[in-house]
Amino acid sequence: MLKGIVLLLTFSFALTNGSVSVHNPFYCYADDPIKPQHGMFSTTSAYETTRGDSVDAGVSSCTPSKFWLITRHGTRLPSLSDLTLIFRHNENLHSDIVRNFESGRTSLCASDINLIKEWKFDPNITFENEQFLTVSGWNEARQVAERYQSAFPSLLPSTYSRDTYFFRSTATQRTIGTLHAFADGLFGFNGHEQVEFEDIAQPDVLLRPYQFCPLYDEIANIRAEQNAFVEGPEYQEMIVQVSQKLGFHGSHVLRAEEIQTLSILCRFEQIWDMNATSPLCAAFSIANFQVMEYWSDLYYYYRWGYGQRNYRRLFENLPCHLIQDMLHFIRSEDANDNRVRIFGAHLPSLYLTLVSFGAFDGDAPLNRHNFAQQTFRMWKSSNITPMAANLAVIRYDCEDGDNDVLFLHNEKPLQIPGCQPNGLCKQSFLLEKFSRFLDINCSNLYCTNA
Ligand SMILES: *[C@@H]1O[C@H](CO)[C@@H](O)[C@H](O)[C@H]1NC(C)=O
Ligand SMILES: *[C@@H]1O[C@H](CO)[C@@H](O)[C@H](O)[C@H]1NC(C)=O
Ligand SMILES: *[C@@H]1O[C@H](CO)[C@@H](O)[C@H](O)[C@H]1NC(C)=O
Repeated sequence: MLKGIVLLLTFSFALTNGSVSVHNPFYCYADDPIKPQHGMFSTTSAYETTRGDSVDAGVSSCTPSKFWLITRHGTRLPSLSDLTLIFRHNENLHSDIVRNFESGRTSLCASDINLIKEWKFDPNITFENEQFLTVSGWNEARQVAERYQSAFPSLLPSTYSRDTYFFRSTATQRTIGTLHAFADGLFGFNGHEQVEFEDIAQPDVLLRPYQFCPLYDEIANIRAEQNAFVEGPEYQEMIVQVSQKLGFHGSHVLRAEEIQTLSILCRFEQIWDMNATSPLCAAFSIANFQVMEYWSDLYYYYRWGYGQRNYRRLFENLPCHLIQDMLHFIRSEDANDNRVRIFGAHLPSLYLTLVSFGAFDGDAPLNRHNFAQQTFRMWKSSNITPMAANLAVIRYDCEDGDNDVLFLHNEKPLQIPGCQPNGLCKQSFLLEKFSRFLDINCSNLYCTNA
């Protein structure tokens, strides 16, 4: 008896520490006050679920002098491929779930089924506005800017001047909008109207190098581990559990594509308004979300991460132009430079830059077989690249001449191997460690694996 109690206590302790959750077939989403799965939405996570609580600008005793930042766009509408799934399945799935409920086949709680009955996909969302920035995405970017400004008021003045500020995005509605929102965060309501944004070069090898590299195209679409994981026991069990919850029993079990459609709808509708309850999230238990998160992480690990060991150098080289921009900016003593450089881009540039830095490395390789061993992995897309994910690099001028450089990822200290856990690096170390990016022509390097 005593032993049983001890085991139980150990078990619940492990749960709060984030280990694999046990599937609860009667889980009630609408009534859960905590909803820990909001932090498991992979790259469809709201920024708010993972950002740092407060930036410690006083981590160095030297004087902040320069600010460099790249941000992923904020929360947006679904992509073409996600919308294709939504339009293919949403009406049938919805009417089947409601019918299953009426025949007593579901195990949904009352609060969840009531929301599902009323549910309808927003008819205003079409292929024409795919991936457009949403109001919630605008607010994320604006608030990121506001918080950096209150941490570094002397670096980020609230009055715009072209001499101080440099803004450059990619050529998409969502990244342009994100930088407008960021500018509003710095300069106040409609402050972006006075900003002169930089012209966008075509091809944009600075912010989208991966679109212009044939070598990368050859190896980029490896989904072997991710697809094999779908055929494996954890994912197949998840499919059966979700199906049962929604009343699809026996041979009526949902297809993987239908599960993914429900997951897309759940996550997007949730992050468009974190204060609302996204009805279709009721399909999944927390344990189900852990499986889906791993499925996503496998994809990003092989597509943009450490998964392809033989191409590590290519992944490190792809962001050459961007890293060189950062290093030259940190190194420069030219008084005519902008003091602030802000880039609006997409998650691949963040991943590739982090990989080039060697950040979030060190997990046992993620693969189709080791979901249960990967509970405490560093490679979690929900934490690394939520909406509005960003990387800030701040130079502090030190009197002894060797400046400090602070790295912040999503407003938390980013440790680069060889630098300090509090995010600080010595400028001399940084320039030495990444010297191969200095004073070279990145056009000749970015698409090579050597
Ligand atoms: C769709 O857009 C129209 C016009 O802007 C608006 O009145 C309506 O509320 C929108 N519908 C939904 C479901 O958001
Ligand atoms: C959610 O509601 C709280 C309290 O009303 C409000 O302060 C907050 O701004 C809301 N958040 C969003 C994302 O709408
Ligand atoms: C860099 O290399 C590319 C391709 O070899 C070349 O077209 C370009 O002119 C070079 N740029 C500079 C600044 O030398």
